Amino acid sequence: MRAKIISFVQMKGGAGKTTLCANIASTLSDRANVLMVDTDFPQSSLETWYQIRNDKYVIENLDIAVAKNLSQLQKVVRSNLDNYDYILIDGHPRITNITRAVVILSDLALIPLSPSQVEVWSTKHLAGIVEEAKNINVHLETRICWNRYRVRTNSAEEVVAEAKKVLKIEDLPTKLGNRVAYLDSFAQGLTVAEWHDQAAKMEIWSLTSAIQRTLDKQANHRIKTEAQVDTFAKAK
Ligand SMILES: Nc1ncnc2c1ncn2[C@@H]1O[C@H](COP(=O)(O)OP(=O)(O)OP(=O)(O)O)[C@@H](O)[C@H]1O
Ligand SMILES: [Mg+2]
Repeated sequence: MRAKIISFVQMKGGAGKTTLCANIASTLSDRANVLMVDTDFPQSSLETWYQIRNDKYVIENLDIAVAKNLSQLQKVVRSNLDNYDYILIDGHPRITNITRAVVILSDLALIPLSPSQVEVWSTKHLAGIVEEAKNINVHLETRICWNRYRVRTNSAEEVVAEAKKVLKIEDLPTKLGNRVAYLDSFAQGLTVAEWHDQAAKMEIWSLTSAIQRTLDKQANHRIKTEAQVDTFAKAK
């Protein structure tokens, strides 16, 4: 079966795209072959994380590729569809043609969001692109992934309700807390599953299972053709 494509998209810088991508990719790689694609050139923090990890440890079932532009993205994804179980794409922090291509290529586009009203508002534009993409890629699933979530605060719960209404995108049941483990483990080329914060570890396992369940329910389908992706990417 072809690789499932999971992407992390959000125009708000620092929302957690790269952190989530590395943590989920590594967790999936315990049982599957995973390719990560870093589209955030020249920042390339996912690639840097991978290099640190590679210098220190033996990495199994987890590879990385870099896509600096639309044609590289198309090539990397298409040439690896049969080589991996999952392809995880770390998105670019701006709406570029790469971002649009990433969304339309995805089986599941994840939108990291922290519970702030302002961030919900600034995600509206992205939600519009997702809706547009769903007209062409009818199997596309999208989920908000709450990050840096403050439990038991009214304001956070209100923002979650508001996001559902305004963005019209479902969320994943597991919400990630604001934990220094995400920062510290990443700096060492590790994930929170390999760190000494039990709560963070449980969160990532639970989130990864929720992602797998979402993909398991999806019908098999082909990814859009190169021409369809190009047209959508360059439409705006
Ligand atoms: N749940 C969390 N708790 C604490 N810190 C976090 C959490 N998620 C992410 N961070 C930290 O926030 C910073 C930004 O995260 P990250 O680099 O993953 O965001 P990004 O969306 O990829 O940003 P960019 O748009 O710049 O690529 C990093 O220093 C990261 O360690
Ligand atoms: Mg990033």
